[in-house]
Amino acid sequence: DLNVPVTNNVVTSDYRIISALPTIKRILRDNPKRLIIMSHLGRPTGIDDSKSLKIVLPILKKCLNIDIEFLSNGLTKNTLTQLKESANNVFLLENLRFHDEETRYNKMEDPDNNEAISVIRSLGNHYVNDAFGCLHRDHLSINGLKIAEKSYGFLVNKELNALNNVTNSRDKTLAIIGGGKIQDKLAMLEKLSQKVDHIFIAGGNINSILKNEQSNFLPFCNNKAEISFMIDGLCATSLESNPSYSLSENLPVDMNFYDMGMKSMNILRELIKNYDTIFWNGTLGVVENDNYKQGSDMLVHILMENNEKNVIIGGGDTGGFVNNYQHNFNHISTGGGASIEYISNDQLVGLIQFMS
Ligand code: 3PG
Repeated sequence: DLNVPVTNNVVTSDYRIISALPTIKRILRDNPKRLIIMSHLGRPTGIDDSKSLKIVLPILKKCLNIDIEFLSNGLTKNTLTQLKESANNVFLLENLRFHDEETRYNKMEDPDNNEAISVIRSLGNHYVNDAFGCLHRDHLSINGLKIAEKSYGFLVNKELNALNNVTNSRDKTLAIIGGGKIQDKLAMLEKLSQKVDHIFIAGGNINSILKNEQSNFLPFCNNKAEISFMIDGLCATSLESNPSYSLSENLPVDMNFYDMGMKSMNILRELIKNYDTIFWNGTLGVVENDNYKQGSDMLVHILMENNEKNVIIGGGDTGGFVNNYQHNFNHISTGGGASIEYISNDQLVGLIQFMS
């Protein structure tokens, strides 16, 4: 999963790239005729230069200290020609999501007669999946390759071991859920509320919840977990305008919260004291913007002070942010949605193929 955070054309965290290296190095030790590295970046709809995976190419080359050729034609026949003519043996394929087959392959009428699908299926004869962060997606590159020889990588193994500690533990567990993508997370949160003892919801999620989606949370009420929400924060009409402070109940309709406030932080600080395992997924604010990173910064410090707790952090952006600190947290997952889903369900749609 090379879906790294990018701001102003700069990769702001290489954590996912670094995490993928042990498996890539292991494969290279076997001196394969060809290694084709593939991933998505962001959520483009069609070809979009601002979401080209080329941005990770120099980082990968530097980390591996080898030449890597870029396959800019993605899942097209031109790529097969390029591979045939190339003298290189390590390649990085363009963003898989430039082809809508990547996300739609299992809803297509005739997938076996499709260029992108036949190209991806002819790229190699051993499939290795180390994209833990994507294993909750039933996508072409995860489940649709039909390559009999397959394995999962070291990162997936490490993630599963660490997250199994949360799911199998009898500890009192608090889940702090920040970030956005709440629409993706509702079903998982419902399941999570049957597993953990308390869910504290903050971050960009709060904006969608305050703006009409609150009723979606009602089914959670009968489950095991107590649910609480951030009650105040810094808000503005846009990221470019000046921030102001508001209680959640008074958030002006034309504004969104971009960071969590002190009242909520004090509640969270007290909550943390009562739990043995803390699973934090999703930043509390827009941490790329200096105005809005204070909440997440304070939470990192509170967790560092509580160093007797089992702290598991999840999410590409959250992991990248937390890795700026000298911490000794138990595990930083590279998966956002994938880590919540695994903790909630004990399974991931992309893992099943490796379990038989
Ligand atoms: C992630 O960032 O969680 C993974 O790369 C999956 O991305 P997605 O949520 O766009 O499918």
